[in-house]
Amino acid sequence: MPTSQKSSSGSHAGELTIFDVLKQDHEKARYLFDRAQKSGKKEIASLQKLFTQLEEELTVHMEGEERFFYSALEQNDEMRDKVLQAFEEHQVAKTLIGTFQALAVDDERWAAKLQVLSEVVEHHMQEEEQEVFKLARKAIGKEQQHEMALQFQRNKREGRKAPRGAPIES
Ligand SMILES: [Fe+2]
Ligand SMILES: [Fe+2]
Repeated sequence: MPTSQKSSSGSHAGELTIFDVLKQDHEKARYLFDRAQKSGKKEIASLQKLFTQLEEELTVHMEGEERFFYSALEQNDEMRDKVLQAFEEHQVAKTLIGTFQALAVDDERWAAKLQVLSEVVEHHMQEEEQEVFKLARKAIGKEQQHEMALQFQRNKREGRKAPRGAPIES
């Protein structure tokens, strides 16, 4: 799928905006879903590994997105409904991710669950890319778009180092 080439227009080369880094994460999630869905049912070890990676990617992405992107847009009247909806969609995705824990990768429901999770996440990412980002570009200045990207990326690096469940210092 071709990605948008216009996302960093108007800024200095290398000055990533929050939209660039969120979109990069979305592409990574799409790639991991695609690989997991194309893996054979017998490739249990590789499926398990892919899912662990996917789970971490999605969890860190949603957490960072809420902390550094949506929290800044929550009070914007034009964006309020979209922000609340995004939080609900994140919650649905997190709950679904949690239900994988009780299920073996070779259980026939596993692939069905993965399909549903990918549909929920894809729907959500499309809404972000097509609607939320569009409104947010008007609501957030260039400087702040860049600053948010730095915060988001820093949080992601630190989130990976921290043990699961540990609080992330800001
Ligand atoms: Fe999101
Ligand atoms: Fe997202």
